[in-house]
Amino acid sequence: MSSHCLSWAYSWLTLSTLFCSVNCAPAEIYANLKPRQAFATHGREQISLNSGWRFHRTETNSDQIAYDDILNYSINNEVLKSWILPSANEFIKDAANRHQRPAGNPRTTVPQTRKNFDDNTWQEVNLPHDWAIQGPFYAGYGVPIGGGMGRLPVQGVGWYRRQVEVTQNDKGKSIYLDIDGAMSYAMVWLNDKLVGGWPYGYNSFRLDLTPYLSLGKENLLAIRLDNPTNSSRWYPGGGIYRNVWLTKVDQTHVSQWGTYVTSKEVSSHSAIVDAVVQIENTGNSSRTIEVATDIHADGGTGEKIGEFTRTKITLAGGEKKQINSSLKVANPRLWGPFPQQQPNMYLAVTRLYSENKTIDKFETPFGIRTLTYDANKGLLVNGEHVRIQGVNQHHDLGALGAAFNVRAAQRQLEVLREAGCNAIRMSHNPPAPELLDLTDRMGFLVMDEVFDMWELQKNPYDMHLTFADWKEPILRAFLRRDRNHPSIIAWSIGNEVGEQTTGTSGAEIAQTLRNIVREEDPTRQITASMNAAEPNMPFPGALDVVSLNYQGEGIRDTPAYSQLNNGRKTPPQYGAFHDAFPDNMILSSETAASLSTRGTYLFPVTDGISAPVNDTSGGNSTTMYVSAYELYTADFGSSPDKVFVTQDKNPFGAGEFVWSGWDYLGEPTPYYSARSSYFGFIDLAGFKKDRFFLYQARWRPDLKMAHILPHWTWPNRIGEVTPVHVFTAADEAELFVNGKSQGRQKKVESSYRFRWDDVVYQPGELHVVTYKNGDVWAKDNVTTAETAAQLKIKPDRAIIKADGNDLSFITVKVTDSKGNAVPEADTAITFAVSGPGEIVATDNGDPTDLEAFPSKTRKAFSGLALVIVRAKAGVSGSIIVTASAKGLQSGKATIEASE
Ligand SMILES: *[C@@H]1O[C@H](CO)[C@@H](O)[C@H](O)[C@H]1NC(C)=O
Ligand SMILES: *[C@@H]1O[C@H](CO)[C@@H](O)[C@H](O)[C@H]1NC(C)=O
Ligand SMILES: *[C@@H]1O[C@H](CO)[C@@H](O)[C@H](O)[C@H]1NC(C)=O
Ligand SMILES: *[C@@H]1O[C@H](CO)[C@@H](O)[C@H](O)[C@H]1NC(C)=O
Ligand SMILES: *[C@@H]1O[C@H](CO)[C@@H](O)[C@H](O)[C@H]1NC(C)=O
Ligand SMILES: *[C@@H]1O[C@H](CO)[C@@H](O)[C@H](O)[C@H]1NC(C)=O
Ligand SMILES: *[C@@H]1O[C@H](CO)[C@@H](O)[C@H](O)[C@H]1NC(C)=O
Ligand SMILES: *[C@@H]1O[C@H](CO)[C@@H](O)[C@H](O)[C@H]1NC(C)=O
Repeated sequence: MSSHCLSWAYSWLTLSTLFCSVNCAPAEIYANLKPRQAFATHGREQISLNSGWRFHRTETNSDQIAYDDILNYSINNEVLKSWILPSANEFIKDAANRHQRPAGNPRTTVPQTRKNFDDNTWQEVNLPHDWAIQGPFYAGYGVPIGGGMGRLPVQGVGWYRRQVEVTQNDKGKSIYLDIDGAMSYAMVWLNDKLVGGWPYGYNSFRLDLTPYLSLGKENLLAIRLDNPTNSSRWYPGGGIYRNVWLTKVDQTHVSQWGTYVTSKEVSSHSAIVDAVVQIENTGNSSRTIEVATDIHADGGTGEKIGEFTRTKITLAGGEKKQINSSLKVANPRLWGPFPQQQPNMYLAVTRLYSENKTIDKFETPFGIRTLTYDANKGLLVNGEHVRIQGVNQHHDLGALGAAFNVRAAQRQLEVLREAGCNAIRMSHNPPAPELLDLTDRMGFLVMDEVFDMWELQKNPYDMHLTFADWKEPILRAFLRRDRNHPSIIAWSIGNEVGEQTTGTSGAEIAQTLRNIVREEDPTRQITASMNAAEPNMPFPGALDVVSLNYQGEGIRDTPAYSQLNNGRKTPPQYGAFHDAFPDNMILSSETAASLSTRGTYLFPVTDGISAPVNDTSGGNSTTMYVSAYELYTADFGSSPDKVFVTQDKNPFGAGEFVWSGWDYLGEPTPYYSARSSYFGFIDLAGFKKDRFFLYQARWRPDLKMAHILPHWTWPNRIGEVTPVHVFTAADEAELFVNGKSQGRQKKVESSYRFRWDDVVYQPGELHVVTYKNGDVWAKDNVTTAETAAQLKIKPDRAIIKADGNDLSFITVKVTDSKGNAVPEADTAITFAVSGPGEIVATDNGDPTDLEAFPSKTRKAFSGLALVIVRAKAGVSGSIIVTASAKGLQSGKATIEASE
């Protein structure tokens, strides 16, 4: 086992001690964390291939290879599709549809795949790697990658090369390359032979290297990726952006994602656990083995609580067999969403024995729970109603790009949890596998989604090009990888696909996909999100759960939206769908599409509860900022307040997934000259927008919280009307300006904020006292700042693991001499680090900031900036981070890196 494997394991163990500080499950839940398949010492080795790559990218195709004709950047490319398609065969049910690899090798051989090719001038990189995230950003018009895809250089062809080690001890083993995600059109060569590939960038996939390896010799692995321009509606990232593994295992072994563990007849007294284990013998001769699976409590760290009947089987050379067995578990500790329930996990450990020797060990984390999809009550987990308080999350990690990092993903979930969020929709693609480990262990519900388009394109070079050949393998691979995760409550087979409105032909595709899902996992319901399908169309009839995007709360349906003529106008559709599908659970897979720029307030403020952004109302197309009064929306959107009104009038709904939790790269509606979105209630850097507190007030009604907006430092607004709004779960509130009451208000039905719209600005202090049932509930105040004087610096964690992966996210706040935040400060801050750490990226959450992410100088935005520091692998010590700016007192933080 290589040291990389160890460091990966460490990073998992770290989580148990570092798990969230705010509103979190008790620590013992997280003591359950185990590395996924890390220490498979008996028979199976899973070795990280993340380090030691050489990488080179060209902006256009210069190597005369293409997956398919349509992707040619110039003509005369050799099309390699027929060598790639056989990689899908495991996931194609009907043998007649499987692909035959053409004889021999392709005509073209390219120098990059050869052992003797000199890659010394190529960049040295470690995975996960996103070739585009360092920028620079493309600014302006007529650029290869515009705002939609994030203005970063994702396009072009990227090559990765490294050696893989196999020794004489590996003789007779099966050796696989496991890639968790590569963007996109991956093609893999080993020792100059084309092995196979996988076009879809969001799937995990496996290739069998065994026939191409030379034992005891250097083996050269070369991977080619190809990202067309106009291939995505958001920032896809580019490169091998997730983990890569070399799996070495006995020829007779548990197949890729070869276990499927489900439970039935579940109660607090007992449950029946069913396990399917698929075993394959890739050798030539028949083999008799014994198969045993044990179940351990507490995610694997607890006692053994049972074992399935040990079974003897004989597999002929090349044969695959499934073993099904059942086990009754007494007093199961059920998995449920936090904080209502506890996310208890179990671990199934499968061992294969040959002559009493363990030849393979395979671990399957799973949970025991029930799901009920009720058309009138919503979702029940273990019989208890759980309202879905969810968000949509894209796959990028802000300034870190698409390159997956466990700590960065965990931080996203922690900030969401603080808002009271209990569910994530993986919009619109399969996530990194570790993100689902996090949702399992932290107790989030998940809607796992596989496609953003089917046959009908959303962009000319998006994945509709491969849909015909790959829909079945993409879908089956997605399901087999993810179906053991208890956090997943529903499968989404598509997001806003064009086929919603193509009548029976679209519904037939939905039915085809649905049948595949049923075959792979009959335990969960199936859905697809609908922003345009109507109740009387065939499409929703092909689904189990009714998932509405924006239609639930109505689209362009109120007077503020009446001047818009750019799309469908429809009143709230919850009722119409509920009537048409009285037996189906209904939820909103996307709500709101509210827009705002953190800390930016524009005047005048609309007196309505929801309005589309335009240049005279809530927006400024010159600065490209949207007002954070949290009343403004995309043309098709609604403010949270407007959404809440319709939800409360339609209580049969199961809940919502807000568009979106965090801001993300690309899709900067309404200002496409920007780099990142305005939809999040948390900005790209992870700072809370005011809207965060509007959701927190609704989702955590027991939290004693009151939040005032706007800030109160307006030297140019003295004497001008400056509305003040307060977000709280309280039912009464009184606002004071410099001690003078502006009136005590009672919350009225269908209103979700307190607003004093006639307040006249005077410098000083805003103060709010809120009450619930007559008792003081929570207070908040905001003070006028003086001039900027100092930088306050605060790491999210003061101790991090020295494993080369762990991160500290450090916030810098510009304050006056008394420590009051200077709310509009845009001071340029310079960061430096000493000790065993390095600055990975800086950000400030400003969607218009085109300074490259690795820059060590970053302007504060609305008074805040972020620096992300990574500990070096294997070096303990103090990392000292300083933030300095001209004329201001510097800030300094110490972070301990420990091995
Ligand atoms: C691919 O080549 C064909 C001609 O063979 C051309 O018509 C087409 O525009 C090319 N496509 C791209 C994306 O360059
Ligand atoms: C491709 O993207 C570029 C940059 O965003 C844009 O200018 C161009 O119109 C797009 N082409 C097509 C065919 O959509
Ligand atoms: C199986 O047999 C064939 C032909 O006899 C041989 O070429 C091949 O290497 C064998 N495969 C394994 C995995 O032993
Ligand atoms: C084993 O279980 C799987 C999944 O539930 C099922 O498809 C298969 O038919 C079962 N096989 C046997 C032999 O019962
Ligand atoms: C396997 O172990 C059992 C019990 O320890 C023993 O009875 C049996 O002889 C062993 N079988 C082989 C093939 O070694
Ligand atoms: C901007 O939106 C407001 C309503 O919110 C509307 O009254 C006004 O006409 C809109 N302006 C333009 C230019 O569309
Ligand atoms: C938008 O911002 C610019 C730059 O601050 C300012 O000059 C302009 O007046 C603003 N436009 C509106 C409509 O407020
Ligand atoms: C406002 O907050 C500050 C700091 O928390 C506190 O010292 C002050 O008393 C507060 N003002 C009021 C009126 O509560």
